Amino acid sequence: MSILVTGGAGFIGSHTVVELVNAGHEVVVVDNLVNASEKSLERVEQIVGKKITFYKVDIQDREALNEVFEKEKIDSCIHFAGLKAVGESVVKPLEYYTNNISGTLVLLDVMRKHNVKNIVFSSSATVYGNPAFIPITEECPKGQCTNPYGWTKSMLEQILSDVWFADKEWNVILLRYFNPIGAHESGLIGENPNGIPNNLMPYITQVAVGKLKQLSVFGDDYDTPDGTGVRDYIHVVDLAVGHVRAMEKMKENPGLKIYNLGTGKGSSVLDIVKNFEAATGVKIPYVIKERRAGDIATCYADASLAEKELHWKAERDLKKMCEDSWRFQKNNPNGY
Ligand code: NAD
Ligand code: WQD
Repeated sequence: MSILVTGGAGFIGSHTVVELVNAGHEVVVVDNLVNASEKSLERVEQIVGKKITFYKVDIQDREALNEVFEKEKIDSCIHFAGLKAVGESVVKPLEYYTNNISGTLVLLDVMRKHNVKNIVFSSSATVYGNPAFIPITEECPKGQCTNPYGWTKSMLEQILSDVWFADKEWNVILLRYFNPIGAHESGLIGENPNGIPNNLMPYITQVAVGKLKQLSVFGDDYDTPDGTGVRDYIHVVDLAVGHVRAMEKMKENPGLKIYNLGTGKGSSVLDIVKNFEAATGVKIPYVIKERRAGDIATCYADASLAEKELHWKAERDLKKMCEDSWRFQKNNPNGY
Protein backbone atom coordinates (compact mmCIF):
# COMPACT_ATOMS: atom_id res chain seq x y z
CA MET A 1 0.00 0.00 0.00
CA SER A 2 1.13 3.53 -0.75
CA ILE A 3 1.05 6.89 0.93
CA LEU A 4 -0.19 9.73 -1.26
CA VAL A 5 1.94 12.80 -0.65
CA THR A 6 0.28 15.95 -1.99
CA GLY A 7 2.73 18.82 -2.46
CA GLY A 8 5.54 16.24 -2.35
CA ALA A 9 7.82 18.23 -4.67
CA GLY A 10 7.91 21.16 -2.23
CA PHE A 11 10.28 21.98 0.62
CA ILE A 12 8.85 19.88 3.45
CA GLY A 13 7.22 17.36 1.10
CA SER A 14 10.46 16.42 -0.67
CA HIS A 15 12.26 15.85 2.64
CA THR A 16 9.34 13.80 3.91
CA VAL A 17 9.36 11.62 0.78
CA VAL A 18 13.03 10.81 1.50
CA GLU A 19 12.28 9.78 5.09
CA LEU A 20 9.19 7.77 4.09
CA VAL A 21 11.10 5.83 1.44
CA ASN A 22 14.00 5.30 3.87
CA ALA A 23 11.49 3.89 6.36
CA GLY A 24 10.29 1.40 3.73
CA HIS A 25 7.04 3.05 2.62
CA GLU A 26 5.72 3.20 -0.93
CA VAL A 27 5.03 6.77 -1.96
CA VAL A 28 2.96 8.44 -4.68
CA VAL A 29 3.53 12.17 -5.15
CA VAL A 30 0.97 14.60 -6.52
CA ASP A 31 2.02 18.22 -7.11
CA ASN A 32 0.98 20.86 -9.66
CA LEU A 33 4.47 22.44 -9.39
CA VAL A 34 3.03 25.91 -8.76
CA ASN A 35 5.74 26.46 -6.15
CA ALA A 36 8.17 23.64 -6.87
CA SER A 37 10.35 22.09 -9.51
CA GLU A 38 10.26 18.52 -10.75
CA LYS A 39 14.02 18.60 -10.20
CA SER A 40 13.47 18.30 -6.46
CA LEU A 41 12.01 14.84 -7.07
CA GLU A 42 14.93 13.89 -9.33
CA ARG A 43 17.18 14.85 -6.43
CA VAL A 44 15.06 12.79 -4.05
CA GLU A 45 15.52 9.83 -6.40
CA GLN A 46 19.27 10.44 -6.29
CA ILE A 47 19.23 10.40 -2.49
CA VAL A 48 17.07 7.30 -2.02
CA GLY A 49 18.27 5.42 -5.13
CA LYS A 50 14.71 4.65 -6.23
CA LYS A 51 12.20 5.97 -8.72
CA ILE A 52 9.43 8.11 -7.20
CA THR A 53 5.94 7.79 -8.68
CA PHE A 54 4.88 11.33 -9.58
CA TYR A 55 1.71 12.85 -11.06
CA LYS A 56 1.65 16.49 -12.10
CA VAL A 57 -1.87 17.08 -10.89
CA ASP A 58 -3.68 19.99 -9.26
CA ILE A 59 -5.63 18.71 -6.26
CA GLN A 60 -8.55 20.90 -7.36
CA ASP A 61 -8.82 18.75 -10.50
CA ARG A 62 -11.25 16.08 -9.29
CA GLU A 63 -11.00 13.91 -12.40
CA ALA A 64 -7.23 13.84 -12.50
CA LEU A 65 -7.03 13.14 -8.77
CA ASN A 66 -9.61 10.40 -9.12
CA GLU A 67 -7.49 8.75 -11.80
CA VAL A 68 -4.51 8.70 -9.44
CA PHE A 69 -6.63 6.88 -6.86
CA GLU A 70 -7.85 4.41 -9.51
CA LYS A 71 -4.34 3.63 -10.69
CA GLU A 72 -2.51 3.47 -7.36
CA LYS A 73 -3.28 1.49 -4.23
CA ILE A 74 -3.39 4.29 -1.70
CA ASP A 75 -4.20 3.78 1.95
CA SER A 76 -3.33 7.12 3.48
CA CYS A 77 -2.43 10.67 2.59
CA ILE A 78 0.00 13.28 3.84
CA HIS A 79 -1.41 16.56 2.65
CA PHE A 80 1.17 19.31 2.11
CA ALA A 81 -0.25 20.87 -1.07
CA GLY A 82 -1.15 24.50 -0.52
CA LEU A 83 -0.08 28.07 -1.08
CA LYS A 84 1.91 29.41 1.85
CA ALA A 85 3.14 32.97 1.32
CA VAL A 86 1.69 35.04 4.15
CA GLY A 87 2.02 38.47 2.46
CA GLU A 88 0.71 37.24 -0.89
CA SER A 89 -2.34 35.77 0.86
CA VAL A 90 -3.29 39.25 2.09
CA VAL A 91 -3.28 40.52 -1.50
CA LYS A 92 -4.87 37.41 -3.05
CA PRO A 93 -7.30 36.05 -0.45
CA LEU A 94 -9.60 34.43 -3.02
CA GLU A 95 -6.74 32.55 -4.65
CA TYR A 96 -5.57 31.31 -1.23
CA TYR A 97 -9.00 30.28 0.03
CA THR A 98 -9.80 28.60 -3.29
CA ASN A 99 -6.56 26.70 -3.66
CA ASN A 100 -6.12 25.66 -0.04
CA ILE A 101 -9.72 25.10 1.01
CA SER A 102 -11.42 23.97 -2.21
CA GLY A 103 -8.37 21.86 -3.05
CA THR A 104 -8.59 20.09 0.30
CA LEU A 105 -12.36 19.59 -0.04
CA VAL A 106 -11.85 17.89 -3.41
CA LEU A 107 -9.05 15.76 -1.97
CA LEU A 108 -11.19 14.66 1.00
CA ASP A 109 -14.14 13.82 -1.23
CA VAL A 110 -12.01 11.76 -3.62
CA MET A 111 -10.38 10.00 -0.66
CA ARG A 112 -13.79 9.16 0.79
CA LYS A 113 -14.98 7.84 -2.56
CA HIS A 114 -12.04 5.42 -2.57
CA ASN A 115 -12.50 4.59 1.09
CA VAL A 116 -9.14 6.12 2.00
CA LYS A 117 -9.74 7.70 5.39
CA ASN A 118 -6.31 8.34 6.90
CA ILE A 119 -4.91 11.84 6.56
CA VAL A 120 -2.01 13.78 8.06
CA PHE A 121 -2.44 17.51 7.54
CA SER A 122 0.23 20.24 7.45
CA SER A 123 -1.01 22.78 9.90
CA SER A 124 0.92 25.58 11.49
CA ALA A 125 1.65 27.31 14.77
CA THR A 126 0.00 30.28 13.07
CA VAL A 127 -3.39 28.85 14.21
CA TYR A 128 -2.52 29.92 17.79
CA GLY A 129 -2.53 33.57 16.67
CA ASN A 130 -0.85 35.61 19.39
CA PRO A 131 -0.55 32.62 21.73
CA ALA A 132 -2.38 32.74 25.06
CA PHE A 133 0.63 31.16 26.77
CA ILE A 134 4.22 30.10 26.08
CA PRO A 135 5.51 27.43 25.63
CA ILE A 136 2.51 26.56 23.48
CA THR A 137 0.85 23.23 24.21
CA GLU A 138 -1.88 21.76 21.99
CA GLU A 139 -4.35 22.84 24.71
CA CYS A 140 -3.58 26.48 23.97
CA PRO A 141 -6.73 27.96 22.41
CA LYS A 142 -6.61 28.76 18.72
CA GLY A 143 -6.38 32.49 18.15
CA GLN A 144 -7.07 35.22 15.61
CA CYS A 145 -4.91 34.70 12.54
CA THR A 146 -3.44 37.84 11.02
CA ASN A 147 -3.70 36.78 7.38
CA PRO A 148 -5.79 34.64 4.97
CA TYR A 149 -3.07 31.98 4.74
CA GLY A 150 -3.27 31.42 8.49
CA TRP A 151 -7.06 31.30 8.33
CA THR A 152 -6.94 28.58 5.66
CA LYS A 153 -4.96 26.43 8.14
CA SER A 154 -7.31 27.22 10.99
CA MET A 155 -10.42 26.57 8.86
CA LEU A 156 -9.01 23.36 7.39
CA GLU A 157 -8.31 22.07 10.89
CA GLN A 158 -12.01 22.66 11.66
CA ILE A 159 -13.13 21.02 8.41
CA LEU A 160 -10.96 17.96 9.03
CA SER A 161 -12.19 17.71 12.63
CA ASP A 162 -15.82 17.86 11.43
CA VAL A 163 -15.16 15.14 8.84
CA TRP A 164 -13.77 12.89 11.59
CA PHE A 165 -16.67 13.78 13.92
CA ALA A 166 -19.22 12.71 11.31
CA ASP A 167 -17.48 9.47 10.37
CA LYS A 168 -15.23 7.87 12.97
CA GLU A 169 -13.66 5.61 10.35
CA TRP A 170 -11.46 8.60 9.56
CA ASN A 171 -8.09 9.09 11.23
CA VAL A 172 -7.00 12.71 11.13
CA ILE A 173 -3.64 13.87 12.46
CA LEU A 174 -3.14 17.64 12.48
CA LEU A 175 0.55 18.53 12.71
CA ARG A 176 1.24 22.11 13.75
CA TYR A 177 4.70 22.98 12.50
CA PHE A 178 6.73 25.74 14.07
CA ASN A 179 9.49 27.28 11.87
CA PRO A 180 11.07 24.71 9.54
CA ILE A 181 14.55 25.54 8.24
CA GLY A 182 17.63 23.51 7.26
CA ALA A 183 17.93 21.07 4.38
CA HIS A 184 18.91 17.49 3.66
CA GLU A 185 22.57 17.07 4.59
CA SER A 186 23.44 15.93 1.04
CA GLY A 187 22.88 19.55 -0.07
CA LEU A 188 20.71 18.17 -2.90
CA ILE A 189 17.29 19.30 -1.67
CA GLY A 190 16.28 22.33 0.33
CA GLU A 191 14.11 25.43 0.39
CA ASN A 192 13.81 27.10 -2.99
CA PRO A 193 11.66 30.24 -2.72
CA ASN A 194 10.47 32.17 -5.76
CA GLY A 195 11.70 35.77 -5.82
CA ILE A 196 12.76 37.59 -2.69
CA PRO A 197 12.31 35.30 0.32
CA ASN A 198 9.78 36.23 3.00
CA ASN A 199 11.17 33.92 5.65
CA LEU A 200 14.24 34.55 7.74
CA MET A 201 16.57 31.64 6.90
CA PRO A 202 16.26 31.76 3.10
CA TYR A 203 16.78 35.51 3.31
CA ILE A 204 19.96 34.99 5.36
CA THR A 205 21.34 32.33 2.99
CA GLN A 206 20.71 34.62 0.01
CA VAL A 207 22.60 37.43 1.76
CA ALA A 208 25.39 34.94 2.45
CA VAL A 209 25.59 33.87 -1.20
CA GLY A 210 25.66 37.53 -2.30
CA LYS A 211 22.23 37.68 -3.97
CA LEU A 212 20.91 40.14 -1.38
CA LYS A 213 22.83 42.98 0.22
CA GLN A 214 21.79 42.80 3.85
CA LEU A 215 19.20 41.39 6.19
CA SER A 216 16.46 43.64 7.53
CA VAL A 217 15.71 42.70 11.13
CA PHE A 218 12.02 43.45 11.66
CA GLY A 219 11.94 45.19 15.03
CA ASP A 220 14.28 45.20 18.02
CA ASP A 221 11.81 46.50 20.60
CA TYR A 222 9.83 43.35 21.33
CA ASP A 223 9.55 42.10 24.88
CA THR A 224 12.21 39.41 24.30
CA PRO A 225 15.78 39.04 25.68
CA ASP A 226 17.40 40.99 22.80
CA GLY A 227 14.28 42.77 21.50
CA THR A 228 14.02 40.74 18.27
CA GLY A 229 11.31 38.16 17.51
CA VAL A 230 11.66 34.71 19.05
CA ARG A 231 10.66 31.54 17.14
CA ASP A 232 11.00 27.79 17.41
CA TYR A 233 13.20 26.82 14.46
CA ILE A 234 13.08 23.13 13.60
CA HIS A 235 15.26 21.17 11.15
CA VAL A 236 13.16 20.10 8.16
CA VAL A 237 14.53 16.54 8.40
CA ASP A 238 13.32 16.29 12.02
CA LEU A 239 9.96 17.55 10.80
CA ALA A 240 9.98 14.97 7.99
CA VAL A 241 10.68 12.18 10.50
CA GLY A 242 7.71 13.47 12.51
CA HIS A 243 5.50 12.57 9.53
CA VAL A 244 6.91 9.05 9.42
CA ARG A 245 5.99 8.70 13.11
CA ALA A 246 2.52 10.07 12.42
CA MET A 247 2.08 7.39 9.75
CA GLU A 248 3.07 4.75 12.29
CA LYS A 249 0.48 6.19 14.68
CA MET A 250 -2.18 5.67 11.99
CA LYS A 251 -1.93 1.92 12.57
CA GLU A 252 -3.51 2.43 16.00
CA ASN A 253 -6.60 4.07 14.44
CA PRO A 254 -6.02 7.14 16.56
CA GLY A 255 -9.11 9.10 15.48
CA LEU A 256 -8.47 12.85 15.66
CA LYS A 257 -5.08 13.91 17.03
CA ILE A 258 -3.22 17.22 17.14
CA TYR A 259 0.53 17.53 17.67
CA ASN A 260 2.95 20.43 17.80
CA LEU A 261 6.15 19.73 15.90
CA GLY A 262 8.81 22.03 17.29
CA THR A 263 11.98 21.81 19.35
CA GLY A 264 10.61 23.53 22.46
CA LYS A 265 13.39 26.09 22.22
CA GLY A 266 13.00 29.75 21.26
CA SER A 267 15.69 31.64 19.30
CA SER A 268 15.72 35.30 18.39
CA VAL A 269 16.50 36.75 14.97
CA LEU A 270 19.92 37.82 16.23
CA ASP A 271 20.54 34.33 17.68
CA ILE A 272 19.97 32.94 14.20
CA VAL A 273 22.32 35.48 12.63
CA LYS A 274 25.04 34.65 15.21
CA ASN A 275 24.58 30.90 14.86
CA PHE A 276 24.67 31.15 11.07
CA GLU A 277 27.89 33.17 11.15
CA ALA A 278 29.50 30.76 13.62
CA ALA A 279 28.42 27.65 11.70
CA THR A 280 29.44 28.90 8.25
CA GLY A 281 32.10 31.56 8.79
CA VAL A 282 30.09 33.92 6.56
CA LYS A 283 29.24 37.39 7.89
CA ILE A 284 25.62 38.56 7.62
CA PRO A 285 25.31 42.35 7.52
CA TYR A 286 21.99 43.54 8.92
CA VAL A 287 20.00 46.69 9.66
CA ILE A 288 17.23 47.11 12.21
CA LYS A 289 13.91 48.05 10.59
CA GLU A 290 10.33 48.60 11.72
CA ARG A 291 8.32 45.66 13.01
CA ARG A 292 6.65 43.65 10.23
CA ALA A 293 2.83 43.85 10.27
CA GLY A 294 1.21 40.75 11.75
CA ASP A 295 4.35 39.52 13.55
CA ILE A 296 4.22 38.43 17.19
CA ALA A 297 7.00 38.67 19.77
CA THR A 298 7.43 35.07 20.83
CA CYS A 299 6.32 31.67 19.62
CA TYR A 300 7.72 28.34 20.70
CA ALA A 301 6.31 24.91 21.32
CA ASP A 302 5.86 22.55 24.15
CA ALA A 303 6.47 19.46 22.02
CA SER A 304 6.12 16.89 24.80
CA LEU A 305 2.87 15.41 23.50
CA ALA A 306 4.52 14.36 20.23
CA GLU A 307 7.36 12.85 22.25
CA LYS A 308 4.93 10.88 24.40
CA GLU A 309 2.51 9.72 21.73
CA LEU A 310 4.54 9.71 18.49
CA HIS A 311 7.87 8.78 20.13
CA TRP A 312 9.34 11.69 18.24
CA LYS A 313 11.70 14.43 19.32
CA ALA A 314 13.65 16.98 17.26
CA GLU A 315 17.34 16.02 17.36
CA ARG A 316 19.17 18.48 15.14
CA ASP A 317 20.45 21.70 16.71
CA LEU A 318 20.71 25.24 15.34
CA LYS A 319 24.29 24.73 14.20
CA LYS A 320 23.19 21.79 12.04
CA MET A 321 20.17 23.75 10.73
CA CYS A 322 22.47 26.62 9.66
CA GLU A 323 25.13 24.35 8.14
CA ASP A 324 22.58 22.40 6.12
CA SER A 325 20.65 25.49 4.94
CA TRP A 326 23.93 27.00 3.83
CA ARG A 327 25.15 23.86 2.03
CA PHE A 328 21.99 23.74 -0.10
CA GLN A 329 22.16 27.47 -0.94
CA LYS A 330 25.89 27.34 -1.72
CA ASN A 331 25.49 24.32 -3.98
CA ASN A 332 22.37 25.76 -5.62
CA PRO A 333 22.84 29.55 -5.71
CA ASN A 334 19.97 29.91 -8.18
CA GLY A 335 17.78 27.16 -6.78
CA TYR A 336 16.94 23.99 -8.67
P1 NAD B 1 6.04 24.46 -0.58
O1 NAD B 1 5.40 25.58 -1.30
O2 NAD B 1 7.47 24.20 -0.83
O3 NAD B 1 5.23 23.11 -0.84
C1 NAD B 1 3.86 23.08 -1.15
C2 NAD B 1 3.72 22.29 -2.43
O4 NAD B 1 2.33 22.22 -2.79
C3 NAD B 1 4.44 22.94 -3.61
O5 NAD B 1 5.29 21.98 -4.19
C4 NAD B 1 3.32 23.37 -4.57
O6 NAD B 1 3.72 23.28 -5.92
C5 NAD B 1 2.22 22.39 -4.19
N1 NAD B 1 0.85 22.86 -4.44
C6 NAD B 1 0.28 24.03 -4.07
N2 NAD B 1 -1.01 24.07 -4.47
C7 NAD B 1 -1.27 22.88 -5.09
C8 NAD B 1 -2.41 22.32 -5.72
N3 NAD B 1 -3.55 23.01 -5.82
N4 NAD B 1 -2.31 21.07 -6.25
C9 NAD B 1 -1.16 20.39 -6.18
N5 NAD B 1 -0.03 20.87 -5.61
C10 NAD B 1 -0.10 22.10 -5.08
O7 NAD B 1 5.77 24.68 0.98
P2 NAD B 1 6.35 23.89 2.23
O8 NAD B 1 7.13 24.85 3.02
O9 NAD B 1 6.94 22.62 1.83
O10 NAD B 1 4.99 23.65 3.01
C11 NAD B 1 4.28 22.43 2.92
C12 NAD B 1 2.99 22.56 3.71
O11 NAD B 1 3.31 22.86 5.07
C13 NAD B 1 2.08 23.69 3.24
O12 NAD B 1 0.75 23.28 3.37
C14 NAD B 1 2.40 24.80 4.20
O13 NAD B 1 1.33 25.69 4.34
C15 NAD B 1 2.64 24.02 5.48
N6 NAD B 1 3.47 24.74 6.45
C16 NAD B 1 4.67 25.26 6.05
C17 NAD B 1 5.45 25.94 6.96
C18 NAD B 1 6.76 26.57 6.54
O14 NAD B 1 7.21 27.48 7.21
N7 NAD B 1 7.39 26.13 5.47
C19 NAD B 1 5.03 26.08 8.29
C20 NAD B 1 3.80 25.53 8.66
C21 NAD B 1 3.03 24.85 7.72
C1 WQD C 1 10.85 34.66 11.63
C2 WQD C 1 11.37 35.86 12.43
C3 WQD C 1 10.50 37.94 11.64
C4 WQD C 1 12.45 37.84 7.72
C5 WQD C 1 6.03 32.24 8.99
C6 WQD C 1 4.54 32.14 8.85
C7 WQD C 1 4.03 30.94 9.62
C8 WQD C 1 4.79 29.68 9.23
C9 WQD C 1 6.27 29.86 9.28
C10 WQD C 1 3.59 28.59 7.52
C11 WQD C 1 10.29 36.88 12.73
C12 WQD C 1 12.00 37.89 11.44
C13 WQD C 1 12.02 37.54 9.00
C14 WQD C 1 13.34 38.93 7.54
C15 WQD C 1 13.31 39.31 9.92
N1 WQD C 1 4.53 29.32 7.88
N2 WQD C 1 12.44 38.25 10.08
N3 WQD C 1 13.74 39.61 8.66
O1 WQD C 1 6.80 34.87 10.53
O2 WQD C 1 7.57 33.24 12.31
O3 WQD C 1 6.34 32.41 10.37
O4 WQD C 1 6.64 31.02 8.54
O5 WQD C 1 2.70 28.14 8.17
O6 WQD C 1 2.68 30.85 9.35
O7 WQD C 1 3.94 33.33 9.35
O8 WQD C 1 8.64 33.18 10.04
O9 WQD C 1 10.80 33.24 8.90
O10 WQD C 1 9.04 34.93 8.27
O11 WQD C 1 10.15 35.12 10.49
O12 WQD C 1 13.70 39.96 10.90
O13 WQD C 1 13.73 39.26 6.43
O14 WQD C 1 12.35 36.53 11.62
O15 WQD C 1 10.10 39.24 12.02
O16 WQD C 1 10.57 37.42 14.00
P1 WQD C 1 7.31 33.55 10.88
P2 WQD C 1 9.69 34.11 9.31
